[in-house]
Amino acid sequence: MSDSVQLTEWHEKAVATARAAGKRIAAAAAGELQINEETHHDLKIQLDVDTQNFIEAELLGMFPDHHILGEEGGSGNDGKGVEWIVDPIDGTVNLAYGIPHYCVSIACRVEGELVLGVIFDPGRDECFEAYRGGGARCNGQAIRVSPRTELQQAILSLGFSKTRESVEKCLDLYVHYARNARKLRAMGSAALDMAYVAAGRIDGYIEQGISIWDIAAGRVLIEEAGGTIVLTEQPGREKFHVKAWNGKVDLPLV
Ligand code: IPD
Repeated sequence: MSDSVQLTEWHEKAVATARAAGKRIAAAAAGELQINEETHHDLKIQLDVDTQNFIEAELLGMFPDHHILGEEGGSGNDGKGVEWIVDPIDGTVNLAYGIPHYCVSIACRVEGELVLGVIFDPGRDECFEAYRGGGARCNGQAIRVSPRTELQQAILSLGFSKTRESVEKCLDLYVHYARNARKLRAMGSAALDMAYVAAGRIDGYIEQGISIWDIAAGRVLIEEAGGTIVLTEQPGREKFHVKAWNGKVDLPLV
């Protein structure tokens, strides 16, 4: 099988799996949610675990020699072979509080190179997807990052991560960018922030201390939509500070 045929097959399976997982999440969100763990800035829910298990069964059922690296399990394969990088629910706290802004995020990495990304928002039935060299789309329509160049016309989303340190740093960024950008947002889903950058709805997204599963699919989307992403490695397995934007607005502070 040629590489492009293989990539198309993986991509189609990723889209179908993200959509199916999203529908299950939306149905379950209408009922009682089981909270497994609570910290000051985060919640872990059983639905995250159940969704990860569903996605893992779907992907490994079809591709048994692949590996899973996910927020709720799977340790990947150290960047070797084919790894699926999964955040079953990105925006868990939103979901747990009844805010319909969360998504499923699935990316695929081959020998350390990200080759496809899918982000599905079940609340709006929006599926953002891209594969290397194929451009990026939302529900089948091509998307591009925004053309804006001026910070004073830009909308930025800043992510408040889970540690005290990253929250403090984000507050510093808020003070600076609230004064200089048109608007700031804190929407609670890193993956959807990145999908929105790819779609040109917002101009940039910045967060300190984010994990690979929050940003892997978004990275492919943004790069295929003409944007830029800068990752600065942090201590911990595949942890980063991230600046993801249209590549045109000047964002000196990160
Ligand atoms: C979180 C969300 C949130 C971001 C956090 C992430 P999760 O992911 O993306 O917006 O600020 O840093 O950890 O826990 O909902 O999958």
